[in-house]
Amino acid sequence: MAKKLKVKKNIGKISIISFIVILFLGIGIYSYIKVTEKINYEKTYEFKLINKGYDKDTAIKISKIFKDKEIDYILEEKINDIYLNLANDKFFIYDKFYEYLDYQKEHDDDSIRDIVEKVNTNTHKEYYTDPVPTDISKGNLMLVNKYHYLENDFTPENLVDIPQTYAYGDIGSQKATEETYNAFLNMWNASHEAGFYLMVNSSYRTFEKQQSVYDDYKKMGGTDYADKYAARPGYSEHQTGLTLDIFEKGTSSKTFPDTDSYKWLVENAHKYGFIQRYPTDKINITGYDFESWHYRYVGVEAATYIYENGITFDEYYAYFVK
Ligand code: DAL
Ligand code: ZN
Repeated sequence: MAKKLKVKKNIGKISIISFIVILFLGIGIYSYIKVTEKINYEKTYEFKLINKGYDKDTAIKISKIFKDKEIDYILEEKINDIYLNLANDKFFIYDKFYEYLDYQKEHDDDSIRDIVEKVNTNTHKEYYTDPVPTDISKGNLMLVNKYHYLENDFTPENLVDIPQTYAYGDIGSQKATEETYNAFLNMWNASHEAGFYLMVNSSYRTFEKQQSVYDDYKKMGGTDYADKYAARPGYSEHQTGLTLDIFEKGTSSKTFPDTDSYKWLVENAHKYGFIQRYPTDKINITGYDFESWHYRYVGVEAATYIYENGITFDEYYAYFVK
């Protein structure tokens, strides 16, 4: 009887000791996990950004959007909401991050959209600064502007004549690529059904032809004047065969913008793959005065995107094509 009681007592003691050991072990493991978690968390960019003064939400977003190099840069700089604002712009290009910031330092009154638009299109630099050859492998989406040029011997493939029914000038004097011409015909038919008669005034131009167009403007008003209205040879989209200057029959550059046919073109050209290339609200980007008549073929998908988002082809190219 006494022996049984002793055994019971011993079992009770062992249980208590085991319980205490397990409890301490548990507390130990728990503390170890917590301390390790804390040490690891303190190594994260989220923690470092919060420590720097960013709120938790911003810190999480910055650490998700940016790569290590950029977060290290952000941590070294003063707190600024520009990083997230830039990243939230629809056309933010990651590789241009430092260029945006450099430009913003000099132009802190500019909106984020203006900064991204300028840097994406190169227009934060003077026109004709560091020009590069046009990547002609992009076909209908090749970019020709004040920073991208065509060699003087570049001639588009598949040029076809635009008949005099649709174009001013002598037989064979107006040409475009076959795809551009076919798209124009579809657009012409639709505009005709809407009650208009469109005419092509200028289309494919050789390098030499563009030289004479540019020189004429230069003679009239000097270099600055010429650069507003005509491209320098090699820098004109007319050399691509993808561009048409379109007027309603009988109208001029002065009267065409006030016509219903112009309004029709602005609203419908994208359905046929054309964009208005030099709109009135993008002069600072394109570097050309408003040209109500100058339409560039880029295909329906790009044209529709550009039309619906109110961007220039220059920015579309930087974001989607390049
Ligand atoms: N007028 C346009 C800009 C050109 O010369 O190509
Ligand atoms: Zn033109």
